[in-house]
Amino acid sequence: MISRKPLGRSLLAGVCMAALSGLAASADPMPEERSLSGLEYDLIGRDDLYTYGRLDTYHQAPFLDDLVAAGKLPPVEERLPETPLIFKTAAMSDGIGEYGGVFRHVIGGRPEGFNWLAGQHQGWGGINMAIQECLVRQGPRWQIKAEEQTGPLPNLARNWEWNDDKTELTMHLVEGIKWSDGDPFDTEDIAFWWNDNVENENVTSRIQAGSFGGGATMEVIDDYSFKFSFPAPQSNTVLEGLAYIQGCPGPSHVLKAKHPTYNPDATYEDYLNAQPADQLPIPVLGAWVPVKHKPDEIVIMRRNPYYWKVDEAGNQLPYINEMHFKLTTWDDRTTQAVAGTGDFSNMENPGNYVEALKQSQDPNAPVTAKFGPRTLAWRIELNLAANMGSSDYDKELRRVFRELDFRKAMSHALDRDAIGQALARGPFAYPYMGGFASGSPYYDAASTDFTPFDQDKAKALLAGLGLKDTDGNGVLNLPGTGEDLVIDITFKAQRTDDRKQVEAVTSQLAEVGIRVLPKSVDETSFDPMWKSGDFTAILQRANFILPTRETCNNLPVSEICPYFHLTGADGRQMLPFEGEVADLVTRISSTDDAGEQTAAARQLQKLLTENVYNVGLVQVPAALLVNKRVKNAHPGTPVFMYEWAEDAVIRERFWVPAADQIGELLPGTVAEY
Ligand code: GLA
Repeated sequence: MISRKPLGRSLLAGVCMAALSGLAASADPMPEERSLSGLEYDLIGRDDLYTYGRLDTYHQAPFLDDLVAAGKLPPVEERLPETPLIFKTAAMSDGIGEYGGVFRHVIGGRPEGFNWLAGQHQGWGGINMAIQECLVRQGPRWQIKAEEQTGPLPNLARNWEWNDDKTELTMHLVEGIKWSDGDPFDTEDIAFWWNDNVENENVTSRIQAGSFGGGATMEVIDDYSFKFSFPAPQSNTVLEGLAYIQGCPGPSHVLKAKHPTYNPDATYEDYLNAQPADQLPIPVLGAWVPVKHKPDEIVIMRRNPYYWKVDEAGNQLPYINEMHFKLTTWDDRTTQAVAGTGDFSNMENPGNYVEALKQSQDPNAPVTAKFGPRTLAWRIELNLAANMGSSDYDKELRRVFRELDFRKAMSHALDRDAIGQALARGPFAYPYMGGFASGSPYYDAASTDFTPFDQDKAKALLAGLGLKDTDGNGVLNLPGTGEDLVIDITFKAQRTDDRKQVEAVTSQLAEVGIRVLPKSVDETSFDPMWKSGDFTAILQRANFILPTRETCNNLPVSEICPYFHLTGADGRQMLPFEGEVADLVTRISSTDDAGEQTAAARQLQKLLTENVYNVGLVQVPAALLVNKRVKNAHPGTPVFMYEWAEDAVIRERFWVPAADQIGELLPGTVAEY
């Protein structure tokens, strides 16, 4: 049965109000939200999207026939697994495709390097996801019916089963998948990923202790099966931690030789840089292989001849031969999509919205723009690590940050409507108080504590903390050291919307005597700085949609997270509510009962917002722009729901009719190792 439903809230549909009892209404309710969402689509069953199986015959991109004939590649049947993943035609918005052409991405990031197992990113904007494949998949879940939302979808792991008390999870890989250089993918790669990266504390892997059930262990059973054991019962929700960006194995047949456990001459620094940004190609499991990187210009990818997914007619995917990632800016991504010189943008820069919407209304425009729910939210992260300040001033500042009244005062001092209008004139922005963004399936307005704009209240709270302007220069003085209260707020230099908000926040906080010193940092060096905890405060996008997605960025689920409250050499003084916050994540991960999950998520939202864990700013909707010549880009795809659109839209099924295809830069080639 197909049910029709507007985007969002699907997880919570049908949850009875009794689950809410016990939650007091917040003192100030959230203002009414006006949705701009124009997405509508049919919801389908989990099994309607794809399956695994064996087909009688397989086909490949015609130029691969030539490479096979020349003896450069084995026949397609030998390159595919026994039971490839098969995308169902009925779930494709334009059906079975034609081979060839180029898909042109534009991104603002730059590849750090290609050792994602050691935590390196490749520049975001979908480049990581084109290369990495993960045990399970989250992106396409936006299309699945509420009653079949039973955790992530299969991917490299074809299926899994639990023991009776849900303390053991056995997973089975698709048998016979090969890396893009032809090497078999099996549990040797899984063991290397888990033992030598996740569990090795010298490696800053993307999966953090605690974000996958805390205390989990892994054991290999045979070439294609392995088992996780957990100290306490879990649910399918815990599997979300094995989707992008955490559960994505790397090529152990290349990386082992560069890892200190296997090579006594290698250091961990060597290992981190084992696949540097300028040495391509590298073996991948993704649909495209990066073959050329011209710094600050472009990354070119060619189709992976060993890709392990097909359509129902037996055509090996992807349909598109070449993928480009032009390396410019995030604003340029939208500009180029609207101009038709780029093929994709998560339109997420409100400064461009009005113009982009105007242009995309022209029937001849290369893209159409439809907004989804508000899933893009910005916040200020105050550094709460009491014992990690480098000077007396820093320590005093952090002591003040740890006072709830200070965080509340900051929140009351912000005029979020004005911040929103500074980003984009119009109805786009809505106040964000921290916690889940309003478009999250876990969001609940009634559990969200609102702190309205009220400078007098802010001033009274600050005075109550002994913060007074003792020298008459308009800036409050810290009670402990007598110095001016000056907060360095770090932001990503290349993110225009972050900069605009820093400017608005700076002038608004000045009015209550808090001085802000904006500090911009290059996006490529941002992550290491953030993760080291070496900052006073940060303003950035929150990306908080699911409790299990990149949890370490948001919540104290392990000693090394969140980065705005790290554990110092002499431990960590948790704020009173932080322990309960971490427990609530565990509760959500350990139940499959939607009612229990909802109740826990609401309590989480309440704790995060009434304690102003982060100072929320505003949240806006985004629109996915895909060039109209590209087929199978489902028009209902949200920019960010269970995962970013680059995963959600399923690019391996994209195709372009031959007449509309763009010429390839490296025609007739595949990666050579
Ligand atoms: C960046 C972009 C997002 C999205 C993600 C994908 O964060 O801002 O729109 O493309 O990368 O990882």
